[in-house]
Amino acid sequence: MSLQKTLSIIKPDAVARNLIGSIDSRFEQAGLRIVAMRRIKMTKEQAQAFYEVHKDKAFYDSLCDYMSSGPVVVQVLSGENAVLKNREIMGATNPANAEIGTIRRDFGESIEHNAVHGSDSEENALQEISFFFNQLDIVE
Ligand code: CMP
Repeated sequence: MSLQKTLSIIKPDAVARNLIGSIDSRFEQAGLRIVAMRRIKMTKEQAQAFYEVHKDKAFYDSLCDYMSSGPVVVQVLSGENAVLKNREIMGATNPANAEIGTIRRDFGESIEHNAVHGSDSEENALQEISFFFNQLDIVE
């Protein structure tokens, strides 16, 4: 077991449906702590930079349009094995394949409008956290 941090984004579809508190309570009930949080609206250029790893995928342009279409909540979650734990709480990328009781199954609308993003590895978590936050923003 190791204490980790991971980046979470509550996506425009979930923010628009007023689900911030419902989603955050899932993290807290699972023992993760929100140690930084900000509500922002990304420009398309910022979304493109954040999702650059997907730039060759067919869904990249649509994903970046969507992620810059409305407010999102970016947050840092901290806890034991936070990266994997958050992925378990979120469920599979496509809500149709996600297990019952996961955030994406309960709140996601489609593979694109899937309520939340979470880092997929400890290495990517460090990179994604530093995209939105500096050290002074993160209070353990
Ligand atoms: P996320 O965890 O934010 O990481 C990349 C996102 O791309 C993913 O969640 C999905 O919302 C989106 N995505 C992945 N595959 C597809 C797809 N086939 N069509 C549309 N969007 C996708």
